[in-house]
Amino acid sequence: MSATHHPQLIDQFGRVVDYIRLSITDRCDFRCVYCMSEDMTFLPRDEVLSLEECARLVKAFVSLGVSKVRITGGEPLVRKNALSLLEDIGQLPGLKELVMTTNGSQLEHFAAPLKQAGVRRLNISLDSLDAERFRSITRVGDLSKVLRGITAAKQAGFERIKLNTVLMRGINDDEALPMLQFALEQGIDIAYIEEMPLGEVDHSRESTYVSNDATLKLLKAHYQLISSTESTGGPARYWRVPHTQTRVGFISPHSHNFCESCNRVRITCKGELFLCLGQEDKVDLMPLLRDHPNDDQPLINAILGAMQIKPKGHDFDLRRNAPAVIRFMSQTGG
Ligand code: 5AD
Ligand code: SF4
Repeated sequence: MSATHHPQLIDQFGRVVDYIRLSITDRCDFRCVYCMSEDMTFLPRDEVLSLEECARLVKAFVSLGVSKVRITGGEPLVRKNALSLLEDIGQLPGLKELVMTTNGSQLEHFAAPLKQAGVRRLNISLDSLDAERFRSITRVGDLSKVLRGITAAKQAGFERIKLNTVLMRGINDDEALPMLQFALEQGIDIAYIEEMPLGEVDHSRESTYVSNDATLKLLKAHYQLISSTESTGGPARYWRVPHTQTRVGFISPHSHNFCESCNRVRITCKGELFLCLGQEDKVDLMPLLRDHPNDDQPLINAILGAMQIKPKGHDFDLRRNAPAVIRFMSQTGG
């Protein structure tokens, strides 16, 4: 191998995969209505990758040219010793960006050590600014804790903090504007995410669908939004509010297909490598880790081979009664 050779993962459509999302637990201290059913069953511990296995996996991907890693869940911070994993990953040479998605419930305590570990950006889920409504959407969550978590994250000095907001018709669709106002006050970003048909939940997804086009139109009636060409390497389209720090993103799997520029794959906490959020194609990496504790080659070969089955795109259709995929976002890792 020449010194100038940079390894890359390239799929059959020529897309470069340089971003992995690793779910380190399927558990969560919330039960958001669009994410989970009321009575979720979680995986037994021995079916979940150990933190050492997680670190080994990430290292293998980074050796193949992956430069961005997002740690997700469930809620990643409910995993015991999550911080030590983040510290390990944060030190990997070749990794440019370590980021995390969290529900914010424990950020009050973890924001500073996460920053210290090398986490550069945080996405914090927030669907309502009304405590009672927040409780009913998350079924159990305490809004005041999350707000304290956001404050702690700002104090810790992350490069960017972004709120992730899922609007649902009749539930919180009147909060599009207040949520943006909150993001502006806080000097942070916000992304509106269209609800995706992942897993069977207790409502019909069609009944709660709010299109991001409608949300954008509403926001534009109150704020000047300037289309931004910048991208965080993801499917979100961004707008800027002039004279503020805030970027406004829209993740719109229904109204805009974002698959063409897909640069990512997802790994569940069971070590399943999913090639697309909305398709079933996967490769099980756990047996390769466990059967070859001292040899990464079989693992690397499996990852390289998986690129050949990465699907062209998702196939979400709200009119279909069944979920597009059976697994929940908390299993595949947001
Ligand atoms: N559709 C859209 N967003 C979802 N999330 C969880 N489940 C769904 C779904 N079915 C969101 C969470 C979190 C992000 C990782 O994904 O709110 O912000
Ligand atoms: Fe937990 Fe996030 Fe799912 Fe809510 S959306 S239940 S916070 S994993």
